[in-house]
Amino acid sequence: MTTVGIDAIEIRTGKLQLDLAETFAPAQDEDPGKYTKGLGLHVSSFPDVYEDIVTMAANAAHRLMERKGLTPDDIGRIDVATESAFDNSKPVSTYVAGCLEQVYDDDFHHANKGERKFACIAGTQSLDDAYNWIRAGRNRGRKALVIATDTALYARDDPGEATQGAGAVAMIVDENPDFVELSTDQGFGSADETDFLKPNQQFPSVDGKRSMKVYLARMREAMEDLERAGVDLHPDDFALIPFHTPFPGMVRKAAALGYRHVCRDTDVELTLAEEIGRQPRREEFKTQEQFFDAIEEYTDALTETERYEDWYADTIEPTLEIAREVGNWYTGSVHVARVAGLKHALEHDRDLTGAQLLVASYGSGAQAEIHAETVADGWKAEIEALNVDDQLDRRYDISFAEYERIHDVHNHDTDDYADVEELTTPSEEFVFDGWGRMGERKYRYVR
Ligand code: CAA
Repeated sequence: MTTVGIDAIEIRTGKLQLDLAETFAPAQDEDPGKYTKGLGLHVSSFPDVYEDIVTMAANAAHRLMERKGLTPDDIGRIDVATESAFDNSKPVSTYVAGCLEQVYDDDFHHANKGERKFACIAGTQSLDDAYNWIRAGRNRGRKALVIATDTALYARDDPGEATQGAGAVAMIVDENPDFVELSTDQGFGSADETDFLKPNQQFPSVDGKRSMKVYLARMREAMEDLERAGVDLHPDDFALIPFHTPFPGMVRKAAALGYRHVCRDTDVELTLAEEIGRQPRREEFKTQEQFFDAIEEYTDALTETERYEDWYADTIEPTLEIAREVGNWYTGSVHVARVAGLKHALEHDRDLTGAQLLVASYGSGAQAEIHAETVADGWKAEIEALNVDDQLDRRYDISFAEYERIHDVHNHDTDDYADVEELTTPSEEFVFDGWGRMGERKYRYVR
C-alpha cells in the first residue's frame, strides 16, 4: 500500500520575543523559577506589528513551496487550523492563498480551501483530512498544504499570560512522504468540557487548573481507545513521543501518567516493582480517594527511578526544546514538538529512519488523539533544511513596556495599529497592510 504522510514541514516564529525570567517575572513580581522550572518556559514568541496568523502562515508556506520546488498547480487543498481567526465566514486559507498568489504566476483557484476549528487539536485534524483525501484517491496526484497558525494571546493579567506564543507550522501532505508516514491506527478521548473557550471573544476564558486535569483525562481515554484498536503501547517501542505542549510542565505530568498506564501488567512494571512496588489497583482500596492518593505517591516514586528518568530524557525531553523558547503555539504546538525531537536526534547522531513516533495531540473543549507515525527515509534532509535556530536567534527582545504596546496592537478591540512603530524591519516576506473597504485585512509582499 502506498504510504501517506508529511512530506515536508516549515516553522515560522513571530519575530519578537519576551524573556519570561528576565522581563516578565520581575514585572509580575514573581519568582523567575515559576516560569523556567515550574512551567518549563524561558521565552515566548510574539508577532511584530505587521505580523499576524496570515503572514506567519503564508511565510511558512512560501518557504516550504520554494524549498520543494512547488507552485500553486501542485496543491489541491489548503487547510488552515487556527483558534485565532478574525473572521467568522471567510477562512484564513483564502487570505493565505491570496498572499501566495502575489509571488507565483499560477493560482490556487482549483484548490479546495477550508478552516478547521477544535482548539489546539485542529492542526492534527487537518492532517487527518488531508490524509483521508489522498487515501480516498480524490487528490488527482496533487498535494495538500496544511497550516497550523496561531497568536496564542491571553487577556492581560490572566494566569495564562505566562504561556503565550505566536507562530505557524506549514506541512505538505503527500504520497510516499519524505518526513513521516502516518498510520491508520488512532485513539480518541473526547468530551463536552468547559475548561478553555472563546465565546465570540478574542482572548480565552480559562479555568487553568481544570484545563490541566481535562488534558490528562482525555489523554488517558485516547490511550485506552488506541489499545482497543489493537495497538500495543509498550513505552520502549517509541523513539519519541511529541505531545501537545502548552508548556513543558504539562507534558511532564502527561508523560508520567502515560508511562504508568502503559507499563501496567508489563515486564517494566515487574522490574520496577523491586524498587518501588507494584502499581496500586483500584480493588485494593476502600475509597476512590485512597486509591488516587496511592496512585499519586506511586507516580512520584516512578518519576524518580533511573529507568523512568532515562526514558524521559530520550523520548520526551528532546521534544520540548523549541517549546521552551517559543511558548504555546496552540494548533502548531504538537507539530513543533515533533520537529524539536527529530532535530535533537539529528544533532546527536541518532538515526531514527524507520523508528516509531507516538504523537499525542490535544485541544481544549476537549479532545485528545494519539496515533503512531514512522520516520521516513528523507527526515534528515528535511530537518537540515529548516532555519529554526536562525529565526529564534534573530528575534527582537522586547522590554516590558514594548510588550504592553504589542499586546494592545494585537488586541482586536483596540485600533492602535497606526500609532505603534514596528520593532523589526520586514524583508522578503508577507506583511499586514491595513484594512480594505469591507473590513477585510490586506497583505503585501515586501521585497
Ligand atoms: N520555582 C519552581 N516552581 C515553581 C515556582 C518557583 N519559584 N513557583 C511556582 N512553581 C510551579 C508550581 O508549583 C506549578 O507546578 P505544579 O503544577 O507542578 O505544582 C507551576 O510552577 C505553575 O505555577 P502555578 O500553578 O502557581 O501557576 P498559575 O496558577 O499562575 O498558572 C496555569 C499556571 C494554570 C498553567 C496558567 O498558566 C494557565 O491558565 N495557562 C493557560 C491554560 C493552559 O495552558 N492549560 C494547559 C492544559 S489545556 C491545553 O493544553 C490547551 C491549550 O493549549 C491552552
